[in-house]
Amino acid sequence: MVPTPAADVAPDQEDDRPEEVARLSEQLVRELRELKAIVTPEVERAVRAVPRHLFVPEVPLEKAYAAEHHYVTKKDEHGVSISSVSAARVQAMMLEQAGVRPGMRVLEIGSSGYNAALLAELVGQDGEVISIDIDPDVLDRARRLLPAAGYDDVTLLQADGEFGAPQHAPFDRIIVTAGAWDIPPAWVDQLTPGGRIVVPLRMRGLTRTIAFDLVDDHLVARDYQLCGFVPMQGAGENRTQLVLLHDTEGEEVGLRLDEGQQVNAPALARALHQPRVERWSGVTVGGFEPFDNLDLWLATVLDGFVLLTAKPLARERGLVASVSPLGVATLADDGSFAYRTVRPTSEERTLFEFGVYGHGPNADALADRLAEQIRIWDRDHRQGQARIEAHPLGTPNDQLPAGRVIDKRHRRLTISWP
Ligand SMILES: C[S@@+](CC[C@H](N)C(=O)[O-])C[C@H]1O[C@@H](n2cnc3c(N)ncnc32)[C@H](O)[C@@H]1O
Repeated sequence: MVPTPAADVAPDQEDDRPEEVARLSEQLVRELRELKAIVTPEVERAVRAVPRHLFVPEVPLEKAYAAEHHYVTKKDEHGVSISSVSAARVQAMMLEQAGVRPGMRVLEIGSSGYNAALLAELVGQDGEVISIDIDPDVLDRARRLLPAAGYDDVTLLQADGEFGAPQHAPFDRIIVTAGAWDIPPAWVDQLTPGGRIVVPLRMRGLTRTIAFDLVDDHLVARDYQLCGFVPMQGAGENRTQLVLLHDTEGEEVGLRLDEGQQVNAPALARALHQPRVERWSGVTVGGFEPFDNLDLWLATVLDGFVLLTAKPLARERGLVASVSPLGVATLADDGSFAYRTVRPTSEERTLFEFGVYGHGPNADALADRLAEQIRIWDRDHRQGQARIEAHPLGTPNDQLPAGRVIDKRHRRLTISWP
């Protein structure tokens, strides 16, 4: 484990520029409102109240108050970020999902200090915030920074979030801030009736931060949002598997596989180097219009759904047409695959049409199927939201909502579309 070089408070970061801090804080609030990350006056007040720069003393003020800036505090031996102060936009968005009210008891899993301070503002004097992290270095940092910013009342504990914090339960809210693959029993057991869990959860390779309400014995999502998070460590660790189809250094192309997903890698590697077929769907999307729900739809309906990953150089070399750090929706069978792409509809590049590129002996059929599902999403689900639920393990199929069932270690997750 390699902590990011620890710098103590840089001289120009000390709280000796209150006017600049106030200006940047106001600017951040305004931006988060525009991005709809802040919606309620409660979250707005909390963001305004907590001096974010005191929790990222290593970075310049402008960055500390940038909506999308996350500060990595630790990487593992492979260079993968495993701890960070999350971006303010994501934190505000998750706090809105959580709906934290004064007097609540909240468990935060994953501690950077700043988010716990926001929670402390939201629960007020009568509430309680318990923040746990698996990593002692992370806790040391939070133990230093929270009191220095005036937040002495947050309880910080070293623990594996898989097991919650039984000695402090029950909680009205559990906010998980590392990428989870499952919902372990402890989270549900330690929730008050009517409590809520907010968790970045991976489903068939796609991560969404989901606000789950406890309804009888199962969890029902009230909201979900696109996000990216550092991976969960400890007993609940479950990382995706990367299968390379092209391994020339710097221009790698691969498939990222999640639970139950398998591919015939040698056959697909051969397919990649065969000429591609293409289909255009007639479905368009604006340059700044999010379409993460399209991918969730494709992951729901396509049995052979996987994610294509590629280095930017692979696109420059013409090996693939689409590159995304989150992976590109792909349909694979035993020897062929087809993936989603876009092309601009005009020189202004303001509107793009979804299409599909396919490789391999069955490329035509796969490309047709993927393009057809893009059209179905556009026609029937573009304005809608998926219904995501998490049921106890033994729940029989006929008691689950119709749709995709994803069996995890502790829960049966379902994605259905009204
Ligand atoms: C994105 S960072 C912290 C985010 C912080 N809550 C914030 O909003 O800035 C995620 C943290 O989760 C911690 N973590 C990972 N797996 C964990 C586990 N099983 N139990 C507790 N903490 C864990 C990591 O050590 C890391 O510090």
